[in-house]
Amino acid sequence: MSSGKDKDNKDKEPAAAEAKNDHEDSDEEASGTSNFSLEFLGRYLATKLKIHGDDKPKEKILEEFTIDGIVSHINKNNCNNIIVMAGAGISTTAGIPDFRSPVSGLYHNLQKYNLPHPQAIFELSFFHENPRPFFELAKELYPGSFKPTICHYFVKLLNDKGMLLRHYTQNIDTLERVAGVPDEKLVEAHGTFNKGHCLACRKSYTQDWMKDKIFADDIPPICDDCPGVVKPDIVFFGENLPEKFHKSITTDFSKCDLLIIMGSSLTVQPFASLIDRAPDGCPRLLINREKAGHQSGLSLFGYGGGLEFDRESNVRDVCWLGDCDEGCLALAEKLGWGDELKELRKQEHERIDKDEGKTMKKDPKL
Ligand code: OAD
Ligand code: ZN
Repeated sequence: MSSGKDKDNKDKEPAAAEAKNDHEDSDEEASGTSNFSLEFLGRYLATKLKIHGDDKPKEKILEEFTIDGIVSHINKNNCNNIIVMAGAGISTTAGIPDFRSPVSGLYHNLQKYNLPHPQAIFELSFFHENPRPFFELAKELYPGSFKPTICHYFVKLLNDKGMLLRHYTQNIDTLERVAGVPDEKLVEAHGTFNKGHCLACRKSYTQDWMKDKIFADDIPPICDDCPGVVKPDIVFFGENLPEKFHKSITTDFSKCDLLIIMGSSLTVQPFASLIDRAPDGCPRLLINREKAGHQSGLSLFGYGGGLEFDRESNVRDVCWLGDCDEGCLALAEKLGWGDELKELRKQEHERIDKDEGKTMKKDPKL
C-alpha cells in the first residue's frame, strides 16, 4: 500500500483496504448485505490473525468514562505527553466549514464547480486536468481572515503547561500557528498553505507569492521558470503525507499518556489509524459532535482497533458529544484553567484585531 492520503483506505490493514473501494459514500457502505459480508470477513480474518480485541481481559484504566475520569487520570499521572489529533471541527466556530457535515460541510457545497464528485477538488489526478476549482475554493478559504477558536488556545495552553507532546492536525488553515502552538509541537499532516511548489520543476514559492496570484485571478499560478502549475503544499488524495508526519508517529505514540481527538470524522487514512497507535494503557478522549472512530470498518472492521467507548470491554475510552469549544472549556475548567483559557482567547483576539487594523491602514489598496 502507498503511504499517501487515502479516503477510507486502511493503510495498516491491507485486507480491509482491498475489500472496500475508494469512494467514501459508496453504495457498498450503505448496503446491509455487503456490511454483513464485510463483518463476516472481519470476524474470519480476526480469528485467523488471532486478533481478539474484545475478549482480551484488560485492566480498567479510567475510574469513570467521563471528562472527570480523564481529569483524574491527568492529575494522578501528571500527564506530560499528551497528543492531540484534530480535524476541521475545531475550526468551524472560526467560520471555516468542515468537509462532511450535512448541509454546511464543504463537500455538500461544491455544485458550482461541476466536479465529477466532491472530493475531486482535492484529487491530484483531477487537479492536473482542471486546477481552477481548487484555486477558486482556495480564494474563499485562504488563511488570514479567521481567528483561532477556544480549541486552538486549549492546545496552546497544554503546551504552555508542558503537557503537550504533539498536536497532529489535518487542517490546512494554519490556525494552530496563529494561536501560538510552536512549530516543533505541530504536525500538519495534510500540509498547509504556508508554502507551495511547482509541480513540474519543484521550485519553491512563498505563501505571499501564491496569494498575490490567486487573488489577482492569475489562476492557475504558473512557475516563473517553467510552464508548470504552482500548487500550495496541501496534501491531496494520491499524495504522500509530509516526512515530519511519518517521522513523528514512529516515536511519539509509544510515549503518549493521553490522546485527545477533536473535531474529526476520522474517515481519512492514514491519519485516522493513529488512534490505534496509542499504547493499551493510554486513555483516549473524543470530543466531537458525533461519534467517530468506533465503528467496524476501522482497523480490520473494528476487531482489534478503533475507539472502544461503545464496547462493554472498554477500559479507557471516553466520548464527549457536543461542541469542541465547550468540550475544551469543560476540560480546562475541571483542570482549573477555565478563566485562563477564556482570558487567553480574549487577549489574543484583541491583538489579532489590532494587528489587522494596522495592516489595513498600511495597505494603500484598502
Ligand atoms: P470532517 O468534515 O470529515 O469531520 C469533521 C467532524 O467534526 C465531524 O464529525 C463533525 O460532526 C465535527 N464537528 C464539526 N464542527 C464541530 C464543532 N464545532 N464541535 C464539535 N464537532 C464538530 O473533517 P475532517 O475529519 O477534518 O483533507 O476531514 C479529514 C480530511 O478530509 C480533511 O483534512 C480534508 C478532507 O478531505 C484535505 O486535504 C483538505
Ligand atoms: Zn517550474
